[in-house]
Amino acid sequence: MLDVDRVLAELTLEEKAALTAGADLWHLKGVERLGVPSVMVTDGPHGLRKQVAASDHLGLGEAQPATCFPTAAALGSTWDVDLVRRVGVALGREARAAGVAVLLGPGVNIKRSPLCGRNFEYLAEDPALAGDLGAALVDGVQSQGVGTSLKHFAANNQETDRMRVSADVDERTLREIYLPAFERVVTRARPWTVMCAYNRVNGTYAAEHPWLLTRVLRDEWGFDGVVVSDWGAVRDRVTSLAAGLDLQMPSPGPRADEQVAAAVRDGRLDEAVLDAAVRRVLTLVARAQPALDDPGTVDLDAHHALAREAAAAGAVLLKNDPVDGAPLLPLSGGRVLVVGELARTPRYQGAGSSQVTPTRLDDALTALRGALGDVPFEPGYTVPEGPDGDDAALLGSAVAAARAADTVVVHLGLPASDESEGYDRPRLGLPDNQVALLHAVAAVTRRVVVVLAGGSVVEMPWRDDAAALLVTWLGGQAGGSAVADLLTGAVAPAGRLAETVPLRLEDTPAFGNFPGEARHVRYGEGVLVGYRWYDTRRLDVAFPFGHGLTYTTFGYDDVRAQVRGEGAATEVEVSVRVTNLGDRAGAEVVQVYVHDPEAAVQRPVRELRAFSRLVLEPGESRTASFTLTARDLAYWHPGLRRWVVEGGTFVVEVGASSRDVRGAVEVEVVGEPTWGELSETSTIAEWLEHPRGAELLAPLVAPHDGEPGLADMDDSTRAMVLQMPARAIVEYGYAPLDHDDLAALVAAANGQSRR
Ligand code: BGC
Repeated sequence: MLDVDRVLAELTLEEKAALTAGADLWHLKGVERLGVPSVMVTDGPHGLRKQVAASDHLGLGEAQPATCFPTAAALGSTWDVDLVRRVGVALGREARAAGVAVLLGPGVNIKRSPLCGRNFEYLAEDPALAGDLGAALVDGVQSQGVGTSLKHFAANNQETDRMRVSADVDERTLREIYLPAFERVVTRARPWTVMCAYNRVNGTYAAEHPWLLTRVLRDEWGFDGVVVSDWGAVRDRVTSLAAGLDLQMPSPGPRADEQVAAAVRDGRLDEAVLDAAVRRVLTLVARAQPALDDPGTVDLDAHHALAREAAAAGAVLLKNDPVDGAPLLPLSGGRVLVVGELARTPRYQGAGSSQVTPTRLDDALTALRGALGDVPFEPGYTVPEGPDGDDAALLGSAVAAARAADTVVVHLGLPASDESEGYDRPRLGLPDNQVALLHAVAAVTRRVVVVLAGGSVVEMPWRDDAAALLVTWLGGQAGGSAVADLLTGAVAPAGRLAETVPLRLEDTPAFGNFPGEARHVRYGEGVLVGYRWYDTRRLDVAFPFGHGLTYTTFGYDDVRAQVRGEGAATEVEVSVRVTNLGDRAGAEVVQVYVHDPEAAVQRPVRELRAFSRLVLEPGESRTASFTLTARDLAYWHPGLRRWVVEGGTFVVEVGASSRDVRGAVEVEVVGEPTWGELSETSTIAEWLEHPRGAELLAPLVAPHDGEPGLADMDDSTRAMVLQMPARAIVEYGYAPLDHDDLAALVAAANGQSRR
């Protein structure tokens, strides 16, 4: 075992400086004379991307085969912490067997706009969901003695200009939307590393951000691991180290190391800061050593089966309307026709640093033929990655075949070039040739099942053409088999939307503020992200957050919510009984949302605070129970800069999606004080809310010298006066006091003696 203290004591300044950057693209530096090995880190979130040769400098070259699990878009839609943890365990085992110390994932950035090219690598538009699933993945990987890198910290919600753009976000929005998923993972699963983002946050590069990297991450959340840079995110390591970074990746070369040593020598960088970073890097190496010494084995067949299970669990059945008296799915015999090039040329992962070389690859066409016998196939349209063809001829041939079929399964999806790390999506819609094909097929039969692939949501103006609609995201190497499992009913769909499907791009929260301009992107929608936006603004959507069908239905009853404690110690016990009403087993995801209808700040009408997945046999009932904490009720007070539970009535809703609320209970909550220090510019209203301030101000706003008291004013005058700063009392000569008197009042109100 590496003796971190001893090594640290024996390292020269130059060696310490060198240890704060990589040796090459994928390795940390070692120190041979002290027995510090050089360990390897590699991507990524849904499969190991261990490059075969380090020949290219962007690190995008061919990787050795590894199981390509479903991407985060699909894993997020499982809402299944247990399953995601098992995927993490499998990823950890593969990393361990490959001699990798840290797997670079998961990504828990919030899906702010569906146009983000990298949404396929992110879990959800909601921080509670992203946080719980991210924690499960970290927990699984790290259970194998392999580290993770929680990324990209923070506010990396687009690819456009990602290495320069400043995400301009108010603190409340950061605290309530963009940071909590990181916070949950850090505090619950303790990732070995956190990867800072490329972008700036409110003008400062994330890699140079003391507030993010030290105050929030370490001081508030207690993070004790390594902060590693995103690849190429560090401009000046001295500034970054001082802000809280520990490790620059990849390798900027020896001159950059020398600059760090020089900064210590000439006093620009405190040696204690460098020592702390080196200690963390060495501790990381020490943590990784046991697994590196004992690589274990990997069962690739079992991992393929797990990838198949996860792909099926992440697919979301958006609709399944009856045709001729019965829902189209599961398929129930008759002549099935498969249409769509993507059925045999699958899209199963995204492009960029997370791209895995799969150990094998299932396609839906082969899998469906395996399950149903020799089903006919028509490509229907071309995709850039598939064989050449003439779209008009392919469409004509598909329509002719559709006339002779009982049910047509149409595979559609985003072309690979539409979404990738490094740039954002050019459009929200599917390619015209695919939409034209669907229209033409739907014109000859109503028995159309659409299977949709893509790393994020698409506009679906065509959704009435499909009686059944299954979205599979980018489902990994076994996604094709998972589609067959779901369509045939061998497996019941269980996924739920982790992102809203909007009607139009123009309805999306960030529209008009995405991707920004002149190196700034303004998060103008504030906390109204995802369903918080659509629900608060009462916008129609194509399919709401949390939605997903299966082959049975569920009844909810006996919804209860009960408050215990008060203020920062409030807890709310919530429970609901759920019953499987159909004749098939199925999984229901029970969702708990909270709303504070009367609040001092604008709050979304509904925020997900907890969820639970229940698997129920036909006729079976079970009770789901949840404990909400004060934090689940609180908002981030922008003035006080802390979480505050405001007293009053809260609404706790239980439902099957953000638009399918099955029960609501009002609870009374005793809040915490929301006043801070008073000043001359605090408003009269703020003085009157403050217990000591109210006492002191009372005589001044009582009737005096012929002036009316506050209570005697008419409503509109009083409303105006309440919003005036206290200094207006002096400036309007309303009461006989000057600025010195007011300053004395301020001091007294704040409990200070005045010099
Ligand atoms: C990506 C990271 C990735 C790293 C290493 C960067 O470009 O943003 O997510 O882990 O490269 O490949």
